[in-house]
Amino acid sequence: MYTGCRCSFKKNRWMVTHMQQMIEATELTKNYGTVTAVNRISLSVAEGELFGLLGPNGSGKTTMIRMLTGQIPPTAGSARVMGIDPAKDPVEVRRSIGIIPEQETPPSFLTAEEYLHFVAKIRNLDAIDERCGRWFDLLEFGDKRDVLCKDLSRGTRQKLMFAQAFLHEPRLALIDEPLINLDPIMQRTVKDFLRGYVRDGGTVFLSTHILEIAEEICDRIGVIHNGRLLHSGPVEDLTATGRHLESFFLDLVRGDTGA
Ligand SMILES: Nc1ncnc2c1ncn2[C@@H]1O[C@H](COP(=O)(O)OP(=O)(O)O)[C@@H](O)[C@H]1O
Ligand SMILES: [Mg+2]
Repeated sequence: MYTGCRCSFKKNRWMVTHMQQMIEATELTKNYGTVTAVNRISLSVAEGELFGLLGPNGSGKTTMIRMLTGQIPPTAGSARVMGIDPAKDPVEVRRSIGIIPEQETPPSFLTAEEYLHFVAKIRNLDAIDERCGRWFDLLEFGDKRDVLCKDLSRGTRQKLMFAQAFLHEPRLALIDEPLINLDPIMQRTVKDFLRGYVRDGGTVFLSTHILEIAEEICDRIGVIHNGRLLHSGPVEDLTATGRHLESFFLDLVRGDTGA
């Protein structure tokens, strides 16, 4: 259970006089050969928002996150992530943010604890044992700390990926399909954690193909299909109309002729 944060992303410490944009994408585009995976997407995410990029498999979510985190360069367009251009300074972007890539697993030859210590050392963190201990407690996998990552279940590996992403208490986290591989109890813990994290002033950009996640925890969503952003807006705009996200989403995607 998330019990609040003693760390530096407390809202009152970061209080800003105007809403700061943590992510700004302008006409961001990625072609893989003849496939246009992301097609001129412009969007922005303000500090303290939980933004969900929602779309079916193959719609371009992972490609979008990879460009925003400096893992791949865009074919065209540009982005600013915490004021940094990820295409020009990918290392600096990754130093500032937390990332959970899609389907990525920690190194097979390290134990869970060794991996977290490794990440903490790379990030020059203090109080390493305390930080790691907090994550083992929060996600309830302290009993696995001495198990080699290759022998961990997929769910436990995903917990470890969560821990590494938030170990340095980043102001912004980008998470590709966050709840995949987690059982319903752990999904609840992670959802509560993410809501608490934005309540404390942190910002989250997540991708998901699961409508319920977007509806339940996101402040704002963007709907992506065939690389194009079909809609973006507050979730409460939809719920206020009494419209269920599922029917809205299906109408958008089915009605998308690619024009
Ligand atoms: N490295 C790659 N090389 C070629 N095509 C790719 C590559 N990565 C993704 N694609 C294609 O780009 C499109 C978008 O993929 P992706 O961003 O992974 O979507 P999503 O995360 O929404 O499932 C798909 O058609 C996919 O096959
Ligand atoms: Mg994906």
